[in-house]
Amino acid sequence: MAVSSLRMRVLVTGASGFLGTTLLERVPEGITAIGTSHRRTADLQWDVTDPASVASTIQSVDAGVVIHCAAMSLIGACTRDPEQAFAVNADGAGYVAAAAAARGLRLITLSTDNVFDGTKGGYVEDDERSPINAYGRSKAAGEDLVLANHPLALVVRTATMLGRNRSDRFPFSSFVLDHSSDEPLELFVDEIRSFVPVTTVADALWELVRSDAQGVLHVAAVESSSRSDFGRALLAAAGRTDVEIQDLSSPPGRANDLSLDVTRARSVLSTALPDIAGTISEVLSDRAR
Ligand SMILES: NC(=O)c1ccc[n+]([C@@H]2O[C@H](COP(=O)([O-])OP(=O)(O)OC[C@H]3O[C@@H](n4cnc5c(N)ncnc54)[C@H](OP(=O)(O)O)[C@@H]3O)[C@@H](O)[C@H]2O)c1
Repeated sequence: MAVSSLRMRVLVTGASGFLGTTLLERVPEGITAIGTSHRRTADLQWDVTDPASVASTIQSVDAGVVIHCAAMSLIGACTRDPEQAFAVNADGAGYVAAAAAARGLRLITLSTDNVFDGTKGGYVEDDERSPINAYGRSKAAGEDLVLANHPLALVVRTATMLGRNRSDRFPFSSFVLDHSSDEPLELFVDEIRSFVPVTTVADALWELVRSDAQGVLHVAAVESSSRSDFGRALLAAAGRTDVEIQDLSSPPGRANDLSLDVTRARSVLSTALPDIAGTISEVLSDRAR
């Protein structure tokens, strides 16, 4: 049965991060959101690697739904410290799932296109996962622990999110649009992603709070492109004729095509998932807000 439409309390973990900040900017009518962070400012601070801290926080908030965004989300940081990546992204997600299940709470947890290896592209939810970096491995392990501890949970895998700089995040769209040197902007021609506005992901998550969708769901743009093609289209839409893009091949060890098939999400969501033009338009609007 779908969650009731009466006013509800929703715990947003990782509320000081890129997606969490966006979620808190866009809380729908009828919902009270309570945010957690680790070290930065939020309603509550906790350490998701500490099961006692997780259980007591979830008990004290008394929410009906948890959106679990807290993560070590940077590939480089996870590569440098894979143990901490597993502690946060795998074990921590598992603790959140166990605590939410124990209290009968709906749980939506975030995962990533990086659970795939990028050799195929157009990934559907049931495709075999074979991550090639510590970040992807820790998130794939987190998916497993979440669904083992909370079989009714929803795992939302998303793609590279774009928009205005929030928290300390400098998204790919800013990397392109804020390029100010006279040197060409070097972008990978062989890295395909389903670039999606962070605002779209936030709106989809708020819609999913009130749904009963469970299992795994890919939420991303309906079209994918290479970093260099996307960069060119973004600069053109912004009227930036002063920046030259130089195509580069990505070095070994990076996933090539992580594009996500969003057929299931389109059948579940009324939130519109944009094409490339729609993504660019929303990113430019978001930056202007
Ligand atoms: N950004 C993307 O393009 C992207 C793409 C695909 C999937 N995702 C997934 O989407 C989710 C949100 O990503 P994001 O970009 O918003 O991440 P982010 O900006 O790096 O934010 C991470 C959040 O997690 C919190 N956190 C980190 N370690 C913690 C710990 N030990 N205990 C409690 N909280 C902790 C941080 O708190 P402090 O700020 O206090 O440190 C922060 O609020 C993640 O699951 C990520 O894997 C992101």
